[in-house]
Amino acid sequence: MSGFQAAIFDLDGVLVDSAKAHFVAWRRLADELGIVFTEHDNEALKGLDRITSLRTILALGGRTVADDEMAKLAARKNGYYLDMIRQMSPADQLPGADALVRSARASHLKCAVASASRNAPLLLERSGLAPLIDFVADPGAIARGKPAPDIFLACSAALGVDPVACLAFEDASAGIEAIVAAGMFAVGIGDPEILKGARITFPATSAVDLAALLQA
Ligand code: BG6
Ligand code: MG
Repeated sequence: MSGFQAAIFDLDGVLVDSAKAHFVAWRRLADELGIVFTEHDNEALKGLDRITSLRTILALGGRTVADDEMAKLAARKNGYYLDMIRQMSPADQLPGADALVRSARASHLKCAVASASRNAPLLLERSGLAPLIDFVADPGAIARGKPAPDIFLACSAALGVDPVACLAFEDASAGIEAIVAAGMFAVGIGDPEILKGARITFPATSAVDLAALLQA
């Protein structure tokens, strides 16, 4: 039997198909600002909080703006994003997401979500996953975002589980870095070339072999 007692999931790109909507919303804003922003640029933004993402995009265009303008631009991007995800339903879960969380629960793992997104509670409700999750971290209450370990440590503390007994799932390089810094077992979802620090990587959520992980 494994010593794992908890599973901590990133949301965007791990449980819910929302990563593309973040990209499309950022690209719309970047276009309006006359900044070229590609899917390759977006890869480095995954897992980062909203303001850090905006600062990175502005830097790509060699731009800086005052704090109040930053807030307005971030709100504009969030409006574009919400317009896209407002219609979200359980059909927008990533394939295998519901089954993965249910099998974690069936294996007596407590389940938490560690997402940088302030929209995480809305997405969990809309996608139908909320009843399966014991704790959702509030990124607004956490001082340092990913790649700092804080949001993962907030989850393990809330669940009352030692970080070394946590399996954590991420699709972003910054997220894997955060998991490793938290002292947890990092499971990458995506390209192993991008998620280099992960202990193991699966190409998609649907490909995760939880039984094998629990024997690790
Ligand atoms: C992360 C996404 O989960 O949340 C990022 O990977 C996103 O792309 C970040 O920018 C913040 O999300 P939100 O919904 O608070 O703007
Ligand atoms: Mg993600």
